[in-house]
Amino acid sequence: MRAEIIKLLRKRSHEFVSGEEMCRCFGISRTAIWKHIQLLRKEGFDIEAYSRKGYRLRGEPDCLLPEKVAAGLATNVLGHQIDYHDEINSTNERAKQLAREGALHGMIVIAEKQLQGKGRLGRFWYSPSGTGIWLSMILRPKILPFEAPKLTLLAGVAAARAIQQVAHLTPEIKWPNDILLEGKKVSGILTEMSAEMDAINFVIVGIGINVNLLPEDFEPELKDIATSLAIQKGEKISRVHLLQCFLREMEALYEEFLHNGFADILDEWKQWTNLLGRRVKINMISDEFLATIVDIDDSGSLVVEREGGEIQHVFSGEVSLNINA
Ligand code: BTN
Repeated sequence: MRAEIIKLLRKRSHEFVSGEEMCRCFGISRTAIWKHIQLLRKEGFDIEAYSRKGYRLRGEPDCLLPEKVAAGLATNVLGHQIDYHDEINSTNERAKQLAREGALHGMIVIAEKQLQGKGRLGRFWYSPSGTGIWLSMILRPKILPFEAPKLTLLAGVAAARAIQQVAHLTPEIKWPNDILLEGKKVSGILTEMSAEMDAINFVIVGIGINVNLLPEDFEPELKDIATSLAIQKGEKISRVHLLQCFLREMEALYEEFLHNGFADILDEWKQWTNLLGRRVKINMISDEFLATIVDIDDSGSLVVEREGGEIQHVFSGEVSLNINA
């Protein structure tokens, strides 16, 4: 209900909306409306209220409160249930817990700040308060477990599209999950799965997007390798708008994957990547070698040509563009 109220007040923010109209619109009493307004004010919404005139929205808090995200969210399922935290260890860990407890497909976990944000390969994901999108999605796709990595690539395409649409910046994707702007990382994706041999229980797709971090927000060791949309753009970007756009693109791609397969998404992924034809260093758990990137195969694995000409498919690992590192 509060999302509906915000939506209406936002649409009509140039004028007062009477209590009476709101009662009629939402089918609830004046007292109920007033209670919702009080709660919204507590959450930081600046709402003027006069007994004769009604209500007017003067300002919104800079946060990802479910009311704000829900107002204007154009998805069918994804993000309709939101588990929101001011502060949490890791949204992926929380999403896994909720999924184990039976949370439905499409529920998302958002936090303003993560204390122990998880990156790939056991790394730490720096997630300071109110500056980024720290999000995990609970998905229950009816696909085979070996296909789950495709969801990482799919989420990368959704993130690239959302960044382009909202921030008007053109990112590049580095396999499998890094989103880069001018060679620096602006977003990363961590996909985790619970599955049997032939069926997925759930997949958690976690994404971190550095939205409004300023240069001084980054720890010294990240300064040269990470960036934010605000740094690249020179102005703040609406996190709510970006999140809504990402969820819409994510759901559209997810539906396309389930109904039409992965081919078109992979084609688009290749258009966003900066890797094809490049000489890189491949770091795998058991091996490290120089190679040229030839392609991404239908399963989402990297196809590389080693120094001696041997073709290899890399299912899991990391690509380093700086071959001298
Ligand atoms: C990487 O590039 O190493 C992946 C980073 C993934 C970070 C996100 S932030 C939201 C979600 N919760 C986590 O603990 N990690 C992911």
